[in-house]
Parts: sequence; structure tokens; C-alpha cells
Amino acid sequence: MTMENQTARRPPVKLGVLISGTGTNLQSIIDAVERGELSADIRVVISNRRAAPGLERARRHAIPTRFIDHRAAATREEFDGELVATLREREVELVACAGFMRLLTPVMLDAFPDRVMNIHPGLLPAFPGLNAQRAAIEHGVRFAGCTVFFVRPGVDDGPIIVQAVVPVMPDDDEERLSARILAQEHRIYPHAISLFQQGRLEIEGRRVRICEFGAADEDAMINPRPR
Ligand code: GRF
Repeated sequence: MTMENQTARRPPVKLGVLISGTGTNLQSIIDAVERGELSADIRVVISNRRAAPGLERARRHAIPTRFIDHRAAATREEFDGELVATLREREVELVACAGFMRLLTPVMLDAFPDRVMNIHPGLLPAFPGLNAQRAAIEHGVRFAGCTVFFVRPGVDDGPIIVQAVVPVMPDDDEERLSARILAQEHRIYPHAISLFQQGRLEIEGRRVRICEFGAADEDAMINPRPR
């Protein structure tokens, strides 16, 4: 069976996207849907910051938006309860955190078990948390990258779905490396959501098995290249 057939047979995944800021990853998801590369119905975009530019991106594409102020909630759990209520009201099946700067509690993770994805600008499990790109430069690693994973309690710790690798150049600063990584984030997030939509992800403990895994020995890279 071809991948097109699989995609066609399954309904679009009902997606909720959580953001806090610029929303370029959200934009990459919207663009993939509009190009026909991802079968998803973006049911709602939720931000914990009223001024998040990503909200305007959603509005431009007529996607419903909600602002839920974490500062108005007494506890993380209360905030998560409001997220869950809004996502359920919009009949969301899969939640994609895209630059969402809040830690999620079991209130949210138990409501959507193995149904919350996140993206991190580092090759997990290396450099979790904030400033992963700076940490990569400081450690002198030759490769950096990004990771889409299923969220579990704990910071950037969950079953890995897709990773992309980029070389670190000798004259990189944090900004240049971040831009190179972000370009790949925009490719792998729609890809990971599409694998979910196609029913190709199976979680076994902390590993994700992918039906029809596409990778080859030639994908190995060396930096710097041997002459
Ligand atoms: C990305 O680098 C993502 O990996 C991290 O936050 C950033 C969000 O960027 N979690 P954007 O808001 O999607 O432009």
C-alpha cells in the first residue's frame, strides 16, 4: 500500500496547537496542511501570551484562537485544566506544543495520554531545557539539530519521534546555529504529525516504533568531512 493511500483512508487528525511566541513552527504546520502534505484539521491555536505573534498567523488562516492567561490561574494544574477544557470543547485528538513555554502537569498529560507532542532545538537527550543551541556551541559538538517527541513528565524527556541533524560550523554563533536548526524544525514537525495521522507510530516504553521506517546507512555524516 502506498503512503498516499494510507493518508487518504484516514480522516484528518484534529489538531490543537499550543504556542507562546512567534509561531514559525505553527506556520510550517499550517503551510504543510495547505500544500496537501499533512492531513490535519487545526481545530484551535491556544496561547498563554495575549501578544504572541503566532495568534495572528492563525487568524490569517481563519483558525480559531484562544488566549489562556497562565498568570490568572492559581496553580499549574488549574491552568492545565483550562487547556484541557478548551481542547476537548474543540474535539482535539492530538496536541502539538510549538514554542509553548509552560511545563505541563499530569492534568494535561493524563487527559491526552501519548497525544501531546513537542519540538526541541537540540538532539535529545543531549542539551534539554532552555538555550540548547548555546549549549551545543559551548560544548564544541560537530552536529546539532532538533527533536520531535511525545511529552512525558520531566523536561524534554519523552519518546523520540523524528530528529534532524545539522552541522555546527566553526564560525557559528547562537543566532546562526538557531536559524539552521529552525529551518529543519519546520520540516520535521509536520512530518512527525503526518506519521501520527497515518497511524504509523507505536509507543513501546520510551521508544517509538515507526511503521515503514525510511533511513539508510548512507545517511551517516562526518563533520568536518574527511578529505
Ligand atoms: C523553537 O526553536 C522550538 O524548538 C522551541 O521554541 C522555538 C519556537 O519557535 N521549543 P516558533 O515560536 O515556532 O517560531
